[in-house]
Amino acid sequence: MAKFKVKRFITRIVCMASHLCRYRRRILFICSPCFVLIPVYIYVSVALTYAMKHGNSMIQPVPLLPTRFIATGLSFSKDLAPHPEKCFWRTGLDSGALWNFIQHIADRRKNPILNPSLIAASVNHSRITDYRESSIGRSRSCSPNNEILNIMPDYEILPTQMKNFVMSMHCRDYPLILEPLDVCNKAPLSKTRAPMLLLAIKTQGENFENREAIRQTWGRSGWVKGRDGEGGLVRRVFLLGTTKDLHTEIKLKFESKLFGDIIQWNFTDTFFNLTLKDVLFWEWFSRRCPHARFIFKGDDDVFVRTPAILDYLQAEEEKMATTTKRYSQSNMEQFVVGDIISNAAPLRLNDTKYYVPKSFYKGLYPTYPGGGGVVYSGTLAHRLFEVSKSVHLFPIDDVYLGMCLQRLGVPPINHPAFLTFDFPKDESKDACANHTILLVHKRNPIDMFQLWTETLTPTPECRYTTLRVKPRVP
Ligand SMILES: *[C@@H]1O[C@H](CO)[C@@H](O)[C@H](O)[C@H]1NC(C)=O
Ligand SMILES: *[C@@H]1O[C@H](CO)[C@@H](O)[C@H](O)[C@H]1NC(C)=O
Ligand SMILES: *[C@@H]1O[C@H](CO)[C@@H](O)[C@H](O)[C@H]1NC(C)=O
Ligand SMILES: *[C@@H]1O[C@H](CO)[C@@H](O)[C@H](O)[C@H]1NC(C)=O
Ligand SMILES: *[C@@H]1O[C@H](CO)[C@@H](O)[C@H](O)[C@H]1NC(C)=O
Repeated sequence: MAKFKVKRFITRIVCMASHLCRYRRRILFICSPCFVLIPVYIYVSVALTYAMKHGNSMIQPVPLLPTRFIATGLSFSKDLAPHPEKCFWRTGLDSGALWNFIQHIADRRKNPILNPSLIAASVNHSRITDYRESSIGRSRSCSPNNEILNIMPDYEILPTQMKNFVMSMHCRDYPLILEPLDVCNKAPLSKTRAPMLLLAIKTQGENFENREAIRQTWGRSGWVKGRDGEGGLVRRVFLLGTTKDLHTEIKLKFESKLFGDIIQWNFTDTFFNLTLKDVLFWEWFSRRCPHARFIFKGDDDVFVRTPAILDYLQAEEEKMATTTKRYSQSNMEQFVVGDIISNAAPLRLNDTKYYVPKSFYKGLYPTYPGGGGVVYSGTLAHRLFEVSKSVHLFPIDDVYLGMCLQRLGVPPINHPAFLTFDFPKDESKDACANHTILLVHKRNPIDMFQLWTETLTPTPECRYTTLRVKPRVP
């Protein structure tokens, strides 16, 4: 029975199906255009609606913005305004390197957004030599800073000069011992007869011969004629610390009376104290020679072709004077030229003079002009003095200048005629090579005399030599 019923049921279903099939063929036949038209219809109507809403932007639909724009990387809350997940300035203190750590503290304190009171006080840069917010060096005095020991675990194994540096780097208040009174002008604040170029030469007590050679050759004070141009007024000062040798100190006093070109401060004249000469010189300059148009700062073992430098600077001034006044002003505030070194890394070998341990500084050095000799404008020197108050002393003086320039946003100009690493191989053998330079390191006093006479009275074939433009391909 059951079997029969099932069979009949199936036959009926099959029959219905065949009925349907017969109809479906007809439906398919009649409606096949409909199946094709439906998507077309949908597409057209959607496209029309869209076109009506968005006009011509159909091809590039503009996504709708939420009522509050949320940049990627921002957290979102309905109750709070969006805030950056990563701050614009780093909040975590640098650890592990002393200079980076204390500089970070100084940067935070000088940040006008974090410290709005700074704006109210018209940004009064107080000295940063005390690390008030850190646990180190609470005293403002220049006595050794023993608290350094707590944050420099490897202090005991550091070379002596590094030890001395970290112990005294919070101090830059060293009194003057010797100072010339009328280098720039009898009336130092008058702009008339202000020197065009002030030579500030770093030297040490015992280098009498170098100073004497410089005085008689490239460092002559007075009106110096350019090689082609009219030249300008040149003044000279030597920058010194103190030595332990009493005899040298006495001779130096005598030398100062005789020539009136010695600036000496009461700090020990060591390699790692050279940065003090920069910051203390900037301070002296702002008081004693503020209107000098350019400064040459360099070592006492270089030769400088002063007449050629004067021509070069005159040309630069004329170039800037042809642009609008405001523009030239801002250009002068940015003027610094020399042998530019980029992407230098600290030397990590502890038996070299330049050794800076990882526990003191991490990261690359900023771009800086090689310290053998660099020329910058007087207006930039004033800015360097201001900014140096918020940059902790660094043991290598030319790197420190780079750090200050970086903070001012001033890119130093590279000039291939500044040879702070001497001539590239063999180039010095060219007959006129000595006439193509503005500065060359390193030269002893005898070389200086020879180079001075040679470059002042060039042979006819070298008379029209121009400045080096780019290093020769070896
Ligand atoms: C800046 O601060 C120093 C000491 O903190 C103060 O002697 C000097 O008068 C201040 N300068 C200005 C312009 O407020
Ligand atoms: C340099 O480092 C080595 C190993 O760290 C140490 O033995 C040596 O005394 C150090 N030299 C100086 C001059 O600090
Ligand atoms: C220089 O400083 C030392 C202390 O560091 C002091 O004993 C000396 O009297 C000072 N000399 C001068 C000339 O001020
Ligand atoms: C720099 O000079 C000061 C003052 O004379 C001295 O205490 C310090 O040890 C010197 N620093 C270096 C690195 O020689
Ligand atoms: C260039 O100067 C050097 C001294 O620094 C001297 O030895 C050399 O002979 C000079 N070159 C020429 C071609 O005079």
